[in-house]
Amino acid sequence: MSSTFYLTTPIYYVNAPPHLGHLYTTVVGDCLRRHFTQRGRDVFFLTGTDEHGRNIEKAAQSAGIPTQQHVDQTAAKFQQMLVDFSLESSRFIRTTDPAHKAGAQKLFQTLKDNGHIYKGQYDGLYCVACNQYYTEREAVSQGDEKTCPVHGLALERVKEESYFFRLSAFQQPLLEHYRKHPEFIRPEGRLNEVIAFVSGGLEDLSVSRTSVRWGIPVPGDPSHTLYVWLDALSNYITALGYGNEEYDGFQKYWPANLHLVGKDILRFHTVYWPAFLMGAGLELPRQVYAHGMWISGGRKMSKTLGNVINIHALRKHFSVDAVRYFIFREKSFGDDSDFNYPAFIRRYNGELAAGIGNLSSRTLTLVQSSLGGKVPQAGADADNEKVRAVAREVKEEFLAQMEQLEFNVALQSAWRLISETDQYLQATKPWALAKEPSRIAELEKSLGTAAEVLRHLAVMLYPLMPQSMESLWGQLGLAGSPSRENPERLEWGGAGARAMGGAVAALFQRYNEKEVLATLQAEGEYRPEGVPPAAEAPKAPPEGGAEAGVISIDDFMKVDLRVGIVKTADRVQGADKLLKLEVDLGEEQPRQILAGIAMAYAPQELVGRRVVVVANLAPRKMRGLESRGMLLAATGEDGKPALVVPPENVPPGAKVR
Ligand code: ME8
Ligand code: MG
Repeated sequence: MSSTFYLTTPIYYVNAPPHLGHLYTTVVGDCLRRHFTQRGRDVFFLTGTDEHGRNIEKAAQSAGIPTQQHVDQTAAKFQQMLVDFSLESSRFIRTTDPAHKAGAQKLFQTLKDNGHIYKGQYDGLYCVACNQYYTEREAVSQGDEKTCPVHGLALERVKEESYFFRLSAFQQPLLEHYRKHPEFIRPEGRLNEVIAFVSGGLEDLSVSRTSVRWGIPVPGDPSHTLYVWLDALSNYITALGYGNEEYDGFQKYWPANLHLVGKDILRFHTVYWPAFLMGAGLELPRQVYAHGMWISGGRKMSKTLGNVINIHALRKHFSVDAVRYFIFREKSFGDDSDFNYPAFIRRYNGELAAGIGNLSSRTLTLVQSSLGGKVPQAGADADNEKVRAVAREVKEEFLAQMEQLEFNVALQSAWRLISETDQYLQATKPWALAKEPSRIAELEKSLGTAAEVLRHLAVMLYPLMPQSMESLWGQLGLAGSPSRENPERLEWGGAGARAMGGAVAALFQRYNEKEVLATLQAEGEYRPEGVPPAAEAPKAPPEGGAEAGVISIDDFMKVDLRVGIVKTADRVQGADKLLKLEVDLGEEQPRQILAGIAMAYAPQELVGRRVVVVANLAPRKMRGLESRGMLLAATGEDGKPALVVPPENVPPGAKVR
């Protein structure tokens, strides 16, 4: 086995700040970094941010700030997440770094020099309202028309000059690689998925855009920018100095041992990326592991649904290790799982506070009070034979499970040792022995055994819960740090008698479940099951015995919906969210309408756009200005308003029904 270990997480899109899903991959990366470092590997752990592309340009526009400022601010939030959760990477790469840009350009140039890139026409389905291309698959078929999945508008077929990568030529080499190296894609189900996809045939891939300005220029043809995924994937080598002088480490660390990714980006990492590498004559990573997703309240996390797990709330109310324990223990790494606070607190109280926390405080309190703070060296006798055997088995299982990224199973193994030790203490009753001075030898055996189990646990569990295991190590009176102990070399009785390290401190204080949940609920971070979100609270049932929330066609017809065209748009002094619009409804004068959409739209991008207006709404005053009507908007995935867009061929004033 080579002594280096190159480990990566995906680089995060900076169109929105981090949430639990992003924290997750980074925590796993941080844990593996610590684990393989303990086992003597020279680990290089890479993380960073993905900062180019149209979506990011748009997010900056919505925020009304220059794109560079937007990416700087959001990248800083990801860097802060590392600090807040004590996560350490070897390098944090940003795709706006000049060194990365040079490397990404070199990869493109190399592919071109090797004959894998040609210039052609990108033939795509374009939505004018979204300002974006959709693939045939993403588009919705309506009769023989293809329509936009967001707006339902007919998509235009648009041709754009583009460079293409000959992905089709890599179908056989890729299939050959999967066959020879089945460990390349994990878990196994994902391997089968990818094989099925590639066997179905691969089309050449458009790897440049003339319509995206916020990107890395194509070498020699700056009217094009690199396709964001070619740009983003290349970070794994540019961060090691490929194509730049800024960094080094390519010789030492490439190929990567492990790319950790979410299953949503499996194809990019197991089809495009290896094909690019083959095309450039570079070695392929050893393994891509696709983990499952965190969902919340049974649904994908989204701001609109109000079910995003906020990492700041987690950090405010819980320790870093409590969060780490739960995300490792609750879900098998490859599967999806639900995150909910009651389960979180129950595991914490039941497994951390009452489990390892209780074992350590019981043991150390007795060592303190009955052995004068002297921790005995663990011996071997008939009484502790079972504990010793389980410790040996658990260590072997644990190491294998960590290598397989089976974190939840590895923790269950460790907890088997805890419960075995609890039984041992029930049988040897050190608290009773402590009352009989003549039985001090037995007391030393009993407590020495429990303390030795705790030493084993501190070494094994350190990568999963570093802060509390450091603390346990110190309390056990051991020198150095569990970060420098190799779990492979754990031997029973491997530490001599020593003085405890100061006072006993609880590793995990119990939480009061009711109180914590009430606080989280008051802060809007948690909603008990069955309680609808504030925005969706059920309305009082209408009269006449109709079903709740149902209206008659007559009621609907009372609402006068009209198509309008925005003539002017301006910010409103002192109101962050409001824009003041003049909207042509085919009437004599355009109407003044105030709309709370300034977080999502810059005034200039609205002028000339079609909107749907509630035209017979009673006039209202906002900030001293009269508003005569309301715009229809949905809430986007990012939580921001997204205007309903009527078709282009409808004149202003047309009625919508
Ligand atoms: O995909 N549960 O970035 P990204 C678990 N820039 N993991 C989740 C998650 C969830 N609910 N949501 C996100 C990108 N993730 C690209 C990567 S790599 C060359 C470019 C995790 O910010 C998941 O691992 O949208 C996902 O792949 C990663 O966050 C990055 O998401
Ligand atoms: Mg994503």
